[in-house]
Amino acid sequence: MSKKVFVTGATGFTGGHLARHLKAKGNDVIALAREGKDTSALEAAGIAIARGDLLNADSLARAVKGVEIVYHIAAVYREENIPRQTFFDVNVEGTRHLLKAAKAAGVQRFVHCSTVGVQGEISNPPATEEHPFKPGDYYQESKLQGELLALDFFKKENMSGAVFRPVGIYGPGDTRFLKLFKFIGSGKFRMFGSGEKLYHLTYIDDLVEGIRLMGETPSIEGEVITLAGGRYTTLNELAQTIADVLEVKLSGMHIPVWPVLIAGAVCETVCRPFKIDPPIYRRRVDFFTKDRAFVIDKAKRLLNYNPQVDLKEGLSKTADWYKSEDLIS
Ligand SMILES: NC(=O)c1ccc[n+]([C@@H]2O[C@H](COP(=O)([O-])OP(=O)(O)OC[C@H]3O[C@@H](n4cnc5c(N)ncnc54)[C@H](OP(=O)(O)O)[C@@H]3O)[C@@H](O)[C@H]2O)c1
Repeated sequence: MSKKVFVTGATGFTGGHLARHLKAKGNDVIALAREGKDTSALEAAGIAIARGDLLNADSLARAVKGVEIVYHIAAVYREENIPRQTFFDVNVEGTRHLLKAAKAAGVQRFVHCSTVGVQGEISNPPATEEHPFKPGDYYQESKLQGELLALDFFKKENMSGAVFRPVGIYGPGDTRFLKLFKFIGSGKFRMFGSGEKLYHLTYIDDLVEGIRLMGETPSIEGEVITLAGGRYTTLNELAQTIADVLEVKLSGMHIPVWPVLIAGAVCETVCRPFKIDPPIYRRRVDFFTKDRAFVIDKAKRLLNYNPQVDLKEGLSKTADWYKSEDLIS
């Protein structure tokens, strides 16, 4: 089924993989890219570029003309040294601009990327999509507002749209888990806390196939669907699997979390005025202190989503990519 599709966030990790996956599946893919961003790799893959910005409604109206499916992946996510308001400007108001542009252009399906972070820490894991909202920081708060805005817009404007919530995305091209790989690879890794908290990863190839299904599966209007890997682990098992992949020994030592939380708060306060990325920040520490484990029954039932990549295989592929980029030795 070849469609004219539009992907935001394609200059980033997930959107880039998604744009290439949709192209490989035979779609006519247009990617939104901000002025000055290097798009040569996307163009080499046969992806057309529409220059624009989520903050510029006119640029979006021009970009989505004739588009059948919108995959809205872009968000302010990784940056730590930008004003809090920017998260809301891009993740909420930017989403509003895109929804309006898509509606005006007669787009047939709008797929909105949220995050399981809107549910914050999971009590009684694993969680379904119904677990209560509990955003833990302003990024997650902005994603929650974006998700609710999209669902409300679909309903009020009678627009075919659905929301997916990814969980810990990893794979070649991502650097979010690089610090963990480096730390474990150095042999100096110490687990913060007990290591018995649960964590759930999603390999990028599985995720982009799930996102494609969100765009192409009929009768999922207004649904919210969690997309995650086939299983979750404790942090201890995750660290051990990374150590196995890197062929290093884990010290097995644990250190208390609270000094790190205090150090994170201090680093954030000191670094923010100087627009420096803090070496430790509390959102990173959440990784060690919050249960994040999810049920993917709804994705299986509604989308026939069926993640293929085993955790160890995915971590090996990620390590191989880090090595090929000289990010780890
Ligand atoms: N990574 C995870 O583990 C994870 C987990 C749950 C949910 N998510 C969600 O998944 C999505 C993708 O995450 P990612 O890790 O792939 O992010 P990423 O690599 O940081 O990419 C973010 C993308 O958003 C674009 N963007 C930011 N501000 C923009 C603006 N004003 N106008 C247009 N584009 C803009 C960036 O463009 P530039 O290149 O121009 O900066 C980039 O292409 C996000 O919605 C995130 O909230 C991620």
